Formats: sequence, structure tokens, C-alpha cells
Amino acid sequence: MHDDGYFNESIAAKYDDDSAERFAPEVVEPVVDFLAELAGDGRALELGIGTGRIALPLAQRGVSVHGIEMSQAMVDQMRAKLGGEDIGVTIGDFAATRVDGQFTLAYLVFNTIMNLTTQEAQTACFRSVSAHLEPGGCFVIEVMTPEIQQLAPGETVHKFREGNERQGFDEYDIANQGLTSHHVTLVDGNWERRSIPFRYVWPAELDLMAELAGMQFRERWSGWKREPFTSDSRRLVAVWEKL
Ligand SMILES: C[S@@+](CC[C@H](N)C(=O)[O-])C[C@H]1O[C@@H](n2cnc3c(N)ncnc32)[C@H](O)[C@@H]1O
Repeated sequence: MHDDGYFNESIAAKYDDDSAERFAPEVVEPVVDFLAELAGDGRALELGIGTGRIALPLAQRGVSVHGIEMSQAMVDQMRAKLGGEDIGVTIGDFAATRVDGQFTLAYLVFNTIMNLTTQEAQTACFRSVSAHLEPGGCFVIEVMTPEIQQLAPGETVHKFREGNERQGFDEYDIANQGLTSHHVTLVDGNWERRSIPFRYVWPAELDLMAELAGMQFRERWSGWKREPFTSDSRRLVAVWEKL
């Protein structure tokens, strides 16, 4: 049977509601503006296309979008939406899966590079993206910056969500650049926990991965409206260009 990874049918069914703030028009529109400009008249490849949060509005702008996705359940959710049937998707691991044709844009948003839990897999992902891009084509990553500044000396857990029905904790493994996100939800009076392993990444490390894969640094921001990236930035939006 196909393995949907951490985004199985029950997670996929709740994904849009659980990430509702990420679907708000004021969040999605700047992302789509940024990506549509880079895609120009060419094709765009989304790694980890999920339920089409970005792919669908980008396609509505006239950009031809193709996705690579591990979870059939997430793709099924996208297919049920208006325009979801028209988007090509290749089921597979985006660190290794090759799609036919060339792209002017590849993008990986919402921390999804961190779903690859080894440096080897992340580097392979950059190489795969480079092989898909035409010269001058761009690769865009949106990812959180490691929040280890939030940890008191010797501590490993950072609480990122506090609520009566939902709580979230990130557990850092500094020696291995690992991060396990624990999402705790109150269901019928009982707390249920879902934990996902990640590998957090440093901006300069991503630049080096890009260079190793034949891409050069182009721009780095802390948001989709090109807010400056500073020492306090909690998020990175970076762009590299295929040589
Ligand atoms: C946080 S969701 C983001 C989905 C979508 N890009 C968005 O912005 O809403 C991460 C998605 O990446 C997919 N994914 C994670 N690791 C993957 C891998 N190695 N290969 C393919 N898809 C992967 C998951 O199944 C999930 O749909």
C-alpha cells in the first residue's frame, strides 16, 4: 500500500482547517504575487504541493503548475477543490522524483524543506531542483529560522502554541540539527499528540547547498513582501538562480 508519510488521510482531511491562518487571502496573496513574478511565462514546480494552498491560486493567475507530493491523501483533498483536477501531480519523494520538462520556477514553502530529516536528503533535493530548472530559473524556499535563541541554556523545548484545545512544542536535538514538533490537541476530553521529525536549516547552509547544486544566491528576505532579513527574523524567504 502507498505510504502517505506524516500526512495520512485523517491529517489531510483536517489540514486546511488546522492551518486556516495560512489560507487567509492576506497570507496567500503576497506568496502568489512573489512566485507569479518569478515564474513569468514558464512552468512552476511545487515540491510538497499538499492540498494546493499555493498551487491553486498560482494556477488561477495563469501559471502552469506541476506538483511533487508524497501523500496521495493530500492530493485527493486538492483534487476535490475547484481547479484541482487540472494540476499535474507526480506522487513521490521530492528529494529524488524527476518530472518531465523544464521549469522557470521551483518552490518549497511552509517549512517543508525541514521534512527532509538528513542533510544528505536536503542536498539531494537541491540537486533535483537544479536538474528541473532552465538556466536563469529560480528556486524559492520559505522556512522558519532555527529558534534556538528562544531556548534557555541547557533547555531543549520551545513552546510555539498555547491554547485551551491546541498546544505545540518544538523539541530540539542540537547535536544532530534535529527538531521534533509535538502537536497536542484536545479530542473528546482527551489530549492526543502528533509528533513530526524535522531537520532545521541555516540560511548560509541553504546557500551552500544551492551552490553545490549549480545555483547562485539571488535574494533573501524575511517575508513575501520583501521585508529585510535581520538577526531577529523568524522566517526566511530565499531565492537562488540556476546558472
Ligand atoms: C506542511 S505541508 C505543506 C503543503 C503545501 N505546500 C502548503 O503550503 O500548504 C508539507 C507537504 O509536503 C509533503 N511532503 C513532505 N515530505 C515530502 C517528501 N519527501 N516528498 C514529497 N512530499 C513531501 C507532505 O505530504 C505535505 O503535503
